[in-house]
Amino acid sequence: MDPPRIVRVDWLIERGMLSEFSPTTLLCRRIGIKWLMLWEGFIYGPTPGLAEVLDLLLTRLKPKSMIDLYCGSGAFSKLAFMRGVREIVCVDRFAEAARRNLRGLGVEVVEGDALSYSPGRVYDLVVADPPEELVERIIKDLGRLRRLMGKIAVIWLGPYHRAGGRIRRLGGRRMVRVVEAWGDALALLWKPGYRERVESVARLME
Ligand SMILES: C[S@@+](CC[C@H](N)C(=O)[O-])C[C@H]1O[C@@H](n2cnc3c(N)ncnc32)[C@H](O)[C@@H]1O
Repeated sequence: MDPPRIVRVDWLIERGMLSEFSPTTLLCRRIGIKWLMLWEGFIYGPTPGLAEVLDLLLTRLKPKSMIDLYCGSGAFSKLAFMRGVREIVCVDRFAEAARRNLRGLGVEVVEGDALSYSPGRVYDLVVADPPEELVERIIKDLGRLRRLMGKIAVIWLGPYHRAGGRIRRLGGRRMVRVVEAWGDALALLWKPGYRERVESVARLME
């Protein structure tokens, strides 16, 4: 299988592969993301619902550190940087797009498997935007993600209309809240003391 191509957002627009007005374009323009991954016909970029919820969490939590798992373009790391976070690590098995987009910001870009990445420390905020085929594995091993999380984590669970089973399974768990944002299902996890900040974001999504 060929590795992904790293292409400019403008190039995708010129070729009619992305609209000027798609949420991906608007987010990239606002955050300052120039490079995206194009792989087997799919464009990998920031998920709109996750971007909004992450931004609301960043402004409420004011975290000092964040880990961006399955970072792709690095858009969420750049957003966190814009919101004042200075200790940021991002992980993707193809890290070139993130390296280009995050150059000069002091973000640590790790090329590797996010499922097994273990930095041996916690981050105030964890964001995970995995491919859909990995979501089940992440849910089965939520403990691993919790061990990375200092305060709050947000995980993409899939398009809301396909995530019913995952939502039901997570619904009964302690310190987990599932929200819908722009058609996507997201799980919010928190450590004791951070419930109200999660709930204040969840209420906005109702
Ligand atoms: C939905 S995209 C993430 C998009 C990203 N949030 C952005 O802003 O561009 C999913 C990402 O997961 C990465 N990926 C897939 N399997 C992985 C794995 N086992 N470990 C790390 N990254 C992986 C892909 O390379 C892809 O960049």
